[in-house]
Amino acid sequence: MIKVAIVYHSETGNTRKMAELIREGCLKVQGVEAKVMSVDDLDRDFLKSAQAVLLGCPTYEGSPSWQMKKFLDTVDVDLSGKLGGVFVSQNWPGGGGADFAEMVLIAGMLVRGMLIYSGGITRGYPYLHFGAVSARSPEGLYAERCLKLGENVASKAKELFG
Ligand SMILES: Cc1cc2nc3c(=O)[nH]c(=O)nc-3n(C[C@H](O)[C@H](O)[C@H](O)COP(=O)(O)O)c2cc1C
Repeated sequence: MIKVAIVYHSETGNTRKMAELIREGCLKVQGVEAKVMSVDDLDRDFLKSAQAVLLGCPTYEGSPSWQMKKFLDTVDVDLSGKLGGVFVSQNWPGGGGADFAEMVLIAGMLVRGMLIYSGGITRGYPYLHFGAVSARSPEGLYAERCLKLGENVASKAKELFG
């Protein structure tokens, strides 16, 4: 069984909803188990044994929330060699900084030795670029992109580690 851990920080629920949609997307792939966990309530055993880890948070001042940055800086689970993906919530659809926040998360994940993946524009519609982005609550196309990210990362994890 391939395990995907979806770790999020969320204060007002938007990123948590993205995490749940991503889980739904992961479960479209047979033989995949996915678990959503908050940075405040980590399941370390699941995280440790997961082949893929997705990180998501709100954009704060054009960057990842400090709570997610703290997770990346302090988590005591070895993330090296795991497949990684990112998702970020923002307030402003036209550019609140979510893309940049995703790249900062990706930088931290690379430093942790992770292999980064989204599927980008190579796995059909909707395209993802750096990861899934939502403005406020994930509805419509934003929700579809979360589902797609989950499916892409889960199927790549199965291809690499199954
Ligand atoms: C301290 C703070 C800083 C924020 N900075 C930005 C920002 O730079 N750009 C933006 O689009 N939204 C910004 N927001 C809005 C949040 O990113 C947005 O409401 C997000 O959907 C909240 O996610 P959550 O419901 O998971 O907590 C900020 C919110 C807070 C509390």
